[in-house]
Amino acid sequence: MGRKLLLEHINVPGINTFEVYRQKGGYASVEKALKTMTPDEVVEEVKKSGLRGRGGAGFPTGMKWSFLAKPEGVPRYLVCNGDESEPGTFKDRFLMTYIPHLLIEGMITSSYALGANTSYIYVRGEMMPQIRILEKAIAEAKANGFLGKNILGSGYDLELYVQPGGGAYICGEETALLESLEGKRGNPRIKPPFPAIAGLYGRPTVVNNVESIAAVVPIVNDGGEEYAKIGIGRSTGTKLISAGGNLAKPGVYEIDLGLPVEEFLYSDEYCGGIANGKRLKAVVAGGSSVPILPANLFLKTINGEGRLMSYESLADGGFVSGSMMGSGGFIAFDEDQCIVRNTWNFARFYHHESCGQCSPCREGTGWMEKVLHRLEHGHGSMSDMDLLVDVSKKIEGNTICPLGDAAAWPVASAIRHFRDEFEWHVSHAGEAVSRNYGIAHY
Ligand code: NAI
Ligand code: SF4
Repeated sequence: MGRKLLLEHINVPGINTFEVYRQKGGYASVEKALKTMTPDEVVEEVKKSGLRGRGGAGFPTGMKWSFLAKPEGVPRYLVCNGDESEPGTFKDRFLMTYIPHLLIEGMITSSYALGANTSYIYVRGEMMPQIRILEKAIAEAKANGFLGKNILGSGYDLELYVQPGGGAYICGEETALLESLEGKRGNPRIKPPFPAIAGLYGRPTVVNNVESIAAVVPIVNDGGEEYAKIGIGRSTGTKLISAGGNLAKPGVYEIDLGLPVEEFLYSDEYCGGIANGKRLKAVVAGGSSVPILPANLFLKTINGEGRLMSYESLADGGFVSGSMMGSGGFIAFDEDQCIVRNTWNFARFYHHESCGQCSPCREGTGWMEKVLHRLEHGHGSMSDMDLLVDVSKKIEGNTICPLGDAAAWPVASAIRHFRDEFEWHVSHAGEAVSRNYGIAHY
């Protein structure tokens, strides 16, 4: 049975209220940090924990915090990225809905560590229920002395605001998010400078994902070393996985990093296998932005060892036979699913969401969508696959923000691993399209 650091109390009735959350030991990390630790000591615990950013990039959180510029007299900010929009990813929404005070507690403790007196939670605009839930939780925390002036008599002041997002996927990219928070169109900025140097209103800013901020609570309560004991290698702690697609038991699971993939997929504690007794065909392990892998490559690493749910093991083999942990949006495809149709679907999404600032992304995503549309609808040609790979290569690495790569990788990996399926769509043009045709990838 895996540890539950974030979801331990998720099924307790009323855990979304301050009263019940407090009865279950909530806000202890705030008391510990503000009463017994300096801000630098909190940063040190997060560094020791080895926590890596849970939004998708996996950048070490403690290192990001220590990059934060601290010029005298200049305000700095903590911004929580709750814009979760990655297809297949719904774990942050789950946390915000069911245990909002965990996020509020993490925000207070983290803001104290960073010396921020004003912090924001930027929540995807479509998530109005979650925005209301967080606003209520903030009001409760404030009424109980955990926000506002002189929190718990420590002399530390913090105002925390919820900001509805701008309604675009790109607003989840950290610099686009900051533009949006400033009231502008959410266009990504060129990095560097990183937000740690010039972020919100040009001031030093840390942007962290919802789950990363929530993880600060057990790290401060139990100590960074205890947290680092969980997991494997540089993948420490627990991770929330949004499990979806053709699974017997889709949902949000908290796993110890390092859990064998087979156990996650097939044990009753987690996904319970593939729905309706079907066979697994392919997996996207970290949200739509990461490469898709056929089942045989997904279950075993390049050395033939059982793959683990860790940053390193999932990426093993690189683009040839590796996926990525990404945001933890785990999508399983059963034997009946059409890879061409799915790839077209992802391409449509990225074309629609491209902000249009850079030509390779603006033009390339449109081009890929068009070619995939004709393949899927029986008008493609055998040269289209090479054309798609060529376009994806011209996008990759040539754009301002990672949306370009995110659009290119699923297409390139689908053609690398399922080329026969694309070819079938050409050779069987005129027959019913969007049909799985039964070449085994198990
Ligand atoms: P990134 O690797 O550019 O940056 C990671 C973080 O480290 C950023 O906060 C950045 O400011 C910081 N950083 C990196 N180098 C730094 C330096 N030298 N100094 C100071 N700070 C530094 O990746 P990014 O753009 O933050 O995230 C991309 C990932 O986001 C993708 O891999 C994808 O998996 C994920 N994603 C998640 C979504 C979701 O809904 N959860 C949506 C879309 C993408
Ligand atoms: Fe905009 Fe795409 Fe360029 Fe990102 S890569 S800045 S989404 S055009």
